[in-house]
Amino acid sequence: MPAIEIRDLCKDFLVPEKKAGLWGVLTRKHKTFTALDHVSFSVEEGEILGYIGPNGSGKSTTIKILTGILTPTQGHVNVLGFTPWKQRYTYTHNIGVVFGQKSLLWWDIAPQECFRLYKEIYEMNEEPYRERLAYLTRLFAVESFMHIPTRKLSLGQRMRCELVAALLHKPKVLFLDEPTIGLDVVAKQRMREAIREINEKEKTTVLLTTHDMRDIEELATKILILNEGKIVYEGTVEGLHREFIHENTIQFEVLEVTDKKAFARLAGAHSISQHGHSFRMRFDSRREAAKEVLDRLFEACRIGRLEVHEPTLETVIREIYERPDSKTG
Ligand SMILES: Nc1ncnc2c1ncn2[C@@H]1O[C@H](COP(=O)(O)OP(=O)(O)OP(=O)(O)O)[C@@H](O)[C@H]1O
Ligand SMILES: [Mg+2]
Repeated sequence: MPAIEIRDLCKDFLVPEKKAGLWGVLTRKHKTFTALDHVSFSVEEGEILGYIGPNGSGKSTTIKILTGILTPTQGHVNVLGFTPWKQRYTYTHNIGVVFGQKSLLWWDIAPQECFRLYKEIYEMNEEPYRERLAYLTRLFAVESFMHIPTRKLSLGQRMRCELVAALLHKPKVLFLDEPTIGLDVVAKQRMREAIREINEKEKTTVLLTTHDMRDIEELATKILILNEGKIVYEGTVEGLHREFIHENTIQFEVLEVTDKKAFARLAGAHSISQHGHSFRMRFDSRREAAKEVLDRLFEACRIGRLEVHEPTLETVIREIYERPDSKTG
């Protein structure tokens, strides 16, 4: 059985209609805004789902429903056999949540006190709690600052403490809404390694949202792309590469054109553009292998520096976000 199962999930919000002036405020009408539009997917136990999409596409709304904070307008949700918004109390003993944009720690007290409070909330015994805390404080390297009030911590320090709090009770499912937001490259990397360790050791199912494609490339076993409340892609990172990463670029420096006709043929077929001494040529890896294109290039000219680029995941994702057929219109 999947750890997370969602069928036909819809969420409508009532939002004020735009109207100018004071009377507009007083006579304000409301309309419904569909944030989630028949979303269905499932996540198997131990999987890390990368849940991505542009701003406002409905990622946080999904997580709020999955953690029982919001009630959906329609649809079926099953996480570990629970309906999140119906069985909140027992359910929260089985899940962990981190909202990168919002703290789950009490602002004026130190994280170590917060951890104690969570121990009580999760009804943990002293011994297992101590053991768990020792492991997590080591994993997230928070020992040197967890006695300082949360409000005085840096963003990266606080985020690591948030993870410790979310993992204290060894949840089976972990929801991470932008856990790497605002972290520097080193901190991001450490965060990813810690998440991976928890996932591998404890078979924790993870639903992760992020705008950082490195997080996705390094962590996600499966990805889902949401746009305007609808799923526009479901698959693996490799699948995304296979399906979308076709247009490769060869960038090269020409020392001498040895066969003008061959070069002209190549230029005709691949729209070669020139930028100073450097040339750029595109080819579609579905139609021809890089080696064939390079062989023809070497026949036509003597080459200096040469680089073959395939688009980054970042570029592909941007293209999917911007594709007209991924919009609801
Ligand atoms: N309580 C609410 N009332 C009205 N509209 C809401 C409410 N919560 C969310 N929305 C709207 O629903 C849409 C989806 O919001 P959501 O926070 O889920 O986006 P997101 O994908 O998490 O975006 P981001 O990447 O910016 O975090 C947005 O248009 C947002 O304005
Ligand atoms: Mg969000």
